[in-house]
Amino acid sequence: GCHVRHANQERIIREAARFARAVHEQDSSGHDWWHVMRVTRLSRLLSVMEGADAYLCELASLLHDVADEKLNASKEVGLHRVQRWLEEAGTAPADREHVLDIIGTMSFAGGSGQAMKTLEGAIVQDADRLDALGFIGIARTFAYSGWKGQGIYDPAIPVREGMTRDQYRHEKSTAINHFSEKLLKLKDRMNTDTGRMLAAGRHQLMELFLNGFDKEWGFGNERYL
Ligand code: ADP
Ligand code: NI
Repeated sequence: GCHVRHANQERIIREAARFARAVHEQDSSGHDWWHVMRVTRLSRLLSVMEGADAYLCELASLLHDVADEKLNASKEVGLHRVQRWLEEAGTAPADREHVLDIIGTMSFAGGSGQAMKTLEGAIVQDADRLDALGFIGIARTFAYSGWKGQGIYDPAIPVREGMTRDQYRHEKSTAINHFSEKLLKLKDRMNTDTGRMLAAGRHQLMELFLNGFDKEWGFGNERYL
């Protein structure tokens, strides 16, 4: 009955959280366990606002970065790991397929355009993008840059537009450049109305930050160039 299913889903969510926590606990690239928690919380909110399946949104959010390339030999290996976990946790076959499809599309397509097929997928992608925006997004960008060995800013490194995700990964950029390369574009790529609304506020905060950064950077700097 309905309540057996409910109890089972609660257990799966709890176990998924424990699994994801173990996977992400040591991360210092901005893809840590707290990122996963924030994305899961945002997904839950969006699922209520948009009328989506909250269980699938939460489950996919908890697992969304487990298959990340940085943590696995390849994306395929990563997705396999998630698949095995979903089987062992006793998820329903249809749910398992849905979650794998969401995670696979998110991580393969990244920012490069492939549309999410379901409302739940659209929501998890929106939630992940929202966590890249605003004050938290700013913090993550500098954390990631330090992790990767990029500087804060260097006026000698131009902003590069129109690169593929793979070219981009191997190119040296800066934390500040990442805003124009990716983050400032995200508000126009949101999938849901609620996501767009939240993204608009976070976008403004990033612009406020960047304007302030430019002012402080520019002050008296020309004499050293
Ligand atoms: P996902 O969470 O979907 O795996 P990414 O790994 O591309 O997304 O990026 C997550 C966040 O990590 C970005 O929003 C940003 O804050 C940071 N980040 C990713 N790539 C870069 C980069 N090249 N320079 C600076 N920050 C980055
Ligand atoms: Ni993520």
